[in-house]
Amino acid sequence: MVAQSHYGEVTDGILALLTEIVGARNVLTGDERENYARDEMPIPKPALPDVVVKPKDTDSVVKILKLANEKNIPVTPRGGGTGLSGGAVPIYEGIVLSVERMNRILEIDEDNFVATVEPGATLSDLYQAVEEHGLYYPLYPGEMSATIGGNVATNAGGMKAVKYGVTRHFVVGLEAVLPTGETIQTGGKFVKCSTGYDLTQLIIGSEGTLAVITKVMLRLIPPPGRREILFVPFNSLHDAIKSVPDIFKERVLPVGIEFMERDIINMVEQYTGKEIPLHGYEAFLMIIVEADSEDEIHQISSQIGEVCLNHGAVDVFIPGSERAKRRLLESREKFYHVIQHFGMTDIADVVVPCSRIADFVELAKGIANEYRIPLVAYGHAGDGNVHLHHMSQETDKAEDKIKEILTKIYEVGVSLGGTISGEHGLGFAKKGYLHMAADKDKLELMKRVKRAFDPNNIMNPGKIFDLE
Ligand code: LAC
Ligand code: ZN
Repeated sequence: MVAQSHYGEVTDGILALLTEIVGARNVLTGDERENYARDEMPIPKPALPDVVVKPKDTDSVVKILKLANEKNIPVTPRGGGTGLSGGAVPIYEGIVLSVERMNRILEIDEDNFVATVEPGATLSDLYQAVEEHGLYYPLYPGEMSATIGGNVATNAGGMKAVKYGVTRHFVVGLEAVLPTGETIQTGGKFVKCSTGYDLTQLIIGSEGTLAVITKVMLRLIPPPGRREILFVPFNSLHDAIKSVPDIFKERVLPVGIEFMERDIINMVEQYTGKEIPLHGYEAFLMIIVEADSEDEIHQISSQIGEVCLNHGAVDVFIPGSERAKRRLLESREKFYHVIQHFGMTDIADVVVPCSRIADFVELAKGIANEYRIPLVAYGHAGDGNVHLHHMSQETDKAEDKIKEILTKIYEVGVSLGGTISGEHGLGFAKKGYLHMAADKDKLELMKRVKRAFDPNNIMNPGKIFDLE
């Protein structure tokens, strides 16, 4: 799937220079490149880079980018490769710059509640490090092997956005190297900043198209005293999602509200061989609650349970032990892989205002029905972010149909006040739909921003939008 390109070739001379920068062991030109030619997109479209380079520090990143800029070689930055939109896959060959060796937790600053980490540190590394210091990074994108650099590049969200927001709400500063070789520091160990344009926030979510992130400063908070999970079965998806706005009307703030239907619960059971409690009902809410005290968590949980029961919930299951809570969350973490296992062809990641989520899911299902393609829906009901998976074993034949379905689904999402991607990013998989959510003036401005950072368009070209 190599796109036509006017880019320079990665010659033996360039390979020798890269080897000087990072050492021969960290310049891959053989079969190992295949591990860097795909991400977790539903139907991977592998694209082999000419070379994979693994710098250890910012200085090496500077040298690699200066060289690439001078020789007009495209550079695709890559974290854990767990993205779902092809953002870390090199569609113009060239260099994949893997940050896997830049994986240190540099500092947990207890005085300022800030963690400074390298981009290749994984979420699980971060959770462990902050816990050792009695602190907490509350976001829960759900894929523990994802790197912080990748989380920042896609503005990862996940299952606890209702209370805590998404990655951009926890990044207070960055170090990044521009494709022209300059290193910039943005933000700092403070929450407030009214000092010029906010470059931190501009780089977050830019999917590696503006700069290579080399350090990330993350805000931490004290850990909550207690966590509870409510698993609530309903006889219809409609009833389940309709309860969500009413939970908020009670003035209680859960950490996250996930919704799912019976088919996905059954698939997880089949996949893991483990039974999920109350698995026979049509639809479920999984509500995550965190609070400081036993009383508070009890109060919030009963208020939420009550609202659900008023909306036709059949029961409210609250797992007793930490192990049972963990198991429920782990089942939820597996959804994507399980659905992939059972033959998904695509995933939509639409976000709509939370009050429109029931309308959106029903309209989307109606569209898929017209095309007779089964659609599995689940997602983050509490923040309006819906994942829709089209299931088909005949992926080639289904591709055109799915594009049509997706276009219609996006039209509906946008018309309800939403947008195309809530948390996965556009990469190359969804870039063709950006125009539906961004008018010409906005798109042109984005392109001018891109050119200001990257005049030669070497940073992850062909992602989010095409420049030419
Ligand atoms: C999830 C991923 C697919 O919510 O975003 O499981
Ligand atoms: Zn999600």
